[in-house]
Parts: sequence; C-alpha cells; structure tokens
Amino acid sequence: MAQMSRDLIETGLGWTYDAPKIARLIGHTETLSLVACDRLGLAGFAVMQFGDERAHLVLLAVQARSQRQGVARRLLSWLLDSARTAGIAELSLELRAGNAGARAFYRAMGFSDAGLLPGYYRNREPALRMVRVLRISSAPAQAWQAPTLRRP
Ligand SMILES: CC(C)(COP(=O)(O)OP(=O)(O)OC[C@H]1O[C@@H](n2cnc3c(N)ncnc32)[C@H](O)[C@@H]1OP(=O)(O)O)[C@@H](O)C(=O)NCCC(=O)NCCS
Repeated sequence: MAQMSRDLIETGLGWTYDAPKIARLIGHTETLSLVACDRLGLAGFAVMQFGDERAHLVLLAVQARSQRQGVARRLLSWLLDSARTAGIAELSLELRAGNAGARAFYRAMGFSDAGLLPGYYRNREPALRMVRVLRISSAPAQAWQAPTLRRP
C-alpha cells in the first residue's frame, strides 16, 4: 500500500504515506481499510477515516494493470455502504487538482467539486476537494479546515 501511494498517488511530491505511516493509519480504530487482490497480489486499496457525521477518504489507488475494470468502483461502493450504515452525513476527499482521471472517477461515483485548496500539497500543488452528501446533517455547521499531510 505504501509503495502504491508513492508511485500512484504521491508521484513527484515525496513520500508521506510510507510503510510506518500506513501501518499507523490502518491500525487506527476509526479507520476502515479495504484491499482488492488478484493472482499477482495487491490490485487496489482504499482507506477511509470515520468521524461522527463525516468521513474522509484518505487514500485510494488501483494498480495500472487493474485500472478501468471496476476495482475502485467496488472499493468505494463498499465504503459508501459502510458510511451509510454508520450514519455518516457527508464523505469528503482531496485529490491533486490536475488528476483528471481521478476527478472523472469521483464524479462518476456521485461526488461534486467543493473547492480548490491552493498549495495543499507541500505548499507546491493545489488540491481539489470533492464531497458526496449522503444525508442532511443534524450537526451544527462547522468551519471546515483542510487536513494537512504533515507528519505527526
Ligand atoms: C482513479 C482510480 C482509483 C480509478 O480506479 P479504477 O479501478 O480504474 O476505476 P473504475 O474502473 O472503477 O472506474 C469507474 C468509472 O470511473 C470513471 N473513470 C475511472 N478512471 C477514469 C479515467 N482515468 N478517466 C476517465 N474516467 C475514469 C469511468 O466512468 C469508469 O467507468 P467506465 O470504465 O465504465 O467508463 C485509478 O485510476 C488510480 O488508482 N489512479 C492513480 C491513483 C489516484 O489517482 N488515486 C485517486 C486520488 S487519491
């Protein structure tokens, strides 16, 4: 998962989600992690963090050999079903603003653009925030702050 993060998600940005960070992330009690495997090994994975009413898709990647075969759709559909079951009101994610393929994927999965975050990645590259509303939230509206990729 760490290697896929480095090669498919963080290309040219350094390596934030290395093996220790991934281990901490997936070991967290409020994190749901999924993997898709084929005969060659790991084909794709997704990691989502759950709050009380909001969930955040932290990582999603599918190996190049397995893309456009519905792997990410199945991973994200599982997470959407889990979020609905958990009573989550809204899912959010950030992606590199120039990642047209991922943006098209998230749009196909019902996500909408929710804002551009300048310098989000290492003060160098903007992120696009996307959201999918699952139900009207009962929680009072809160000022939203962009998560950071800083190491703890
Ligand atoms: C984005 C990504 C996760 C999509 O995974 P995938 O398994 O190939 O996606 P799916 O096969 O489930 O695609 C479902 C639908 O999304 C859309 N879609 C997916 N990839 C697309 C692309 N590159 N361009 C346009 N539309 C795309 C299509 O509508 C597709 O349906 P179709 O193939 O029937 O036309 C994958 O390309 C990837 O891992 N990219 C590198 C890492 C990354 O960008 N991660 C997300 C940001 S953190």
